[in-house]
Amino acid sequence: MKRISTGIPGLDSMIEGGLPRPSLTLLAGDAGAGKTTFCTQFLCRGADLGERGLCLLTFGGPSDLQIKYASSYEFAKSSYFGREICYLELEEMVENECKSKDYLDKLEREIDALEPTRIVIENLSILEDVLRDEYWRFLLKLSHMIKARAMVALVTEDCQPGIIYPANIAQVADGIILLQNEVVNFARRRSIEILKMSGTSHHLGKHAVDISVKGLVVYPGL
Ligand SMILES: Nc1ncnc2c1ncn2[C@@H]1O[C@H](COP(=O)(O)OP(=O)(O)OP(=O)(O)O)[C@@H](O)[C@H]1O
Ligand SMILES: [Mg+2]
Repeated sequence: MKRISTGIPGLDSMIEGGLPRPSLTLLAGDAGAGKTTFCTQFLCRGADLGERGLCLLTFGGPSDLQIKYASSYEFAKSSYFGREICYLELEEMVENECKSKDYLDKLEREIDALEPTRIVIENLSILEDVLRDEYWRFLLKLSHMIKARAMVALVTEDCQPGIIYPANIAQVADGIILLQNEVVNFARRRSIEILKMSGTSHHLGKHAVDISVKGLVVYPGL
């Protein structure tokens, strides 16, 4: 099994050296739990290694603003953005209620142009309201596209009240990682939990996480 480094200190040793290639991992978590930071570290580690990365924004653009946020971390070299790491805004397509074929065609064109190893899709489930009956088939095709092109994908989703992660994305995901920002004894505690990872003997349970200008740091066993 080929693996690629996540770029998160402490995490690779918990998952046999990194995320399997190819694979699609669902990164679910509370608001502010560190999903976007995780993805930025993942893309920047790729750029450090000379791998290209593509980040798809279903909303939360413009990409210039997201690049500004991403550049605020110590590990993010500004020269990466627009070169090794490209952002693609899908907001306009969401607003125009495009069909699943339009999204897949646009994605395929961008992938052919950039040939990324790493791909990030933030808040993919926004498309469920747009694609409705087509959504499930879209998820399957997206998963096939990622595998056929030997890419490693991270898909982020917010936890909703009573729902930790969307079941339909979990079904096509090879791995599920949960980030939390819980109240414990009147204080907020950040944690990471690997719920599943195909082909990987991974650590179980919650492990402490710290977030700073250096990004996420995981403390296995703590
Ligand atoms: N440049 C930075 N330096 C230090 N800490 C930061 C920096 N940027 C973000 N943080 C901290 O990391 C936290 C997590 O931010 P992040 O955007 O990764 O969370 P998220 O899970 O993507 O949130 P959302 O649900 O809004 O998408 C922030 O709330 C903030 O406390
Ligand atoms: Mg975010």
